[in-house]
Amino acid sequence: MKILVTGGAGFIGSNFVRFIYNERPDWYINVLDSLTYAGNTKNLDGLEPSRYSFIKGDICDEATIDAAVADCDAVVHFAAETHVDNSVHNPRPFVDSNIVGTFQVLEAVRKHNKRLHHISTDEVYGDLEPGDSKFNEKTPYNPSSPYSATKAGSDHLVQAWIRSFEVQATISNCSNNYGPYQHVEKFIPRQITEILEGRKPKLYGNGQNIRDWIHAEDHSSGVLAILEKGKVGETYLIGANGEKTNQEVVESILGLMGKNKADYEHVNDRPGHDLRYAIDSTKIRTELGWQPRYTDFKDGLAQTIDWYKQNEAWWKPQKTQTEAKYKELGR
Ligand code: NAD
Ligand code: TYD
Repeated sequence: MKILVTGGAGFIGSNFVRFIYNERPDWYINVLDSLTYAGNTKNLDGLEPSRYSFIKGDICDEATIDAAVADCDAVVHFAAETHVDNSVHNPRPFVDSNIVGTFQVLEAVRKHNKRLHHISTDEVYGDLEPGDSKFNEKTPYNPSSPYSATKAGSDHLVQAWIRSFEVQATISNCSNNYGPYQHVEKFIPRQITEILEGRKPKLYGNGQNIRDWIHAEDHSSGVLAILEKGKVGETYLIGANGEKTNQEVVESILGLMGKNKADYEHVNDRPGHDLRYAIDSTKIRTELGWQPRYTDFKDGLAQTIDWYKQNEAWWKPQKTQTEAKYKELGR
């Protein structure tokens, strides 16, 4: 089995590559990544060249993606622009990578008749009120940010290519991921590294927005289950029952790092800030027998904090620029 992983130098893509490398020693992994600010080849250090190769290339480039797809058995498509705040500031790269890029991936898998698994997000469903039922595979799409709208667009393209061209594809929509190698612009690593640099964690608005946290390793095991046992044409939601308010997450991080749990600050809210996401993952659990390994959020969080403590050389180069960007936004 030779798989092509687009976006494999990013946070979840690189966690997936290392997961497959360990779990499927007879598979060959080819990563295609354009190395935007979010991609880093250091995320893939230590992989044996006999089992892994890397192409620096853009999924929007027809010739590049065509050649890479022709040379594999299956594609796992992670490559995307992913940060909501960036999408509100400058939506254009989101339209390019998430919509046009996914179109090029679809055209290549259609031409070469290859299996595709498309990685998406629960944000395509919009947000929930606290008492609402969780998202499931039948929830109507209702995206709110340029990020979630372009991911929703990419899902619709995949669904249309399945129906119109019988492309052999599956889709997964996962909740918020955390774990090692996540860019410091995102919520959890930003707060851990703010504390490590002697500053206070920063909560947008009143801190009562809810996210449903899952460890990136559990997302990877869900994707592998779909790739091997999923039914072509189907969508699977991946989640680990990890709903927390942002305030609860910040208090846990402060507690685990030996700080006063009240030692955070409130900053300007994000425009259009989604209130709550929550995943009902019954389908993947019952049909594919998948279950998460990290069922205690605090265990996964403690492991993640340790990783950032031990890998300052990895995150330091991103940190100054990221905080300068947040300062401009008043966040
Ligand atoms: P990330 O921003 O850390 O990584 C994205 C990677 O894609 C980077 O390596 C980047 O260089 C690459 N990339 C971007 N545009 C590209 C292009 N045009 N051509 C080639 N490579 C390109 O993102 P992430 O958090 O690892 O997310 C990966 C995927 O998982 C995305 O599709 C995202 O929508 C989805 N997802 C993320 C989360 C989350 O909590 N982070 C949750 C659910 C789904
Ligand atoms: P984020 O990691 O950007 O993921 P998403 O918006 O895609 O869910 O943010 C997670 C939550 O944390 C979201 O409600 C916004 C909030 N947040 C803060 O409160 N402070 C911060 O510094 C950041 C980056 C996010």
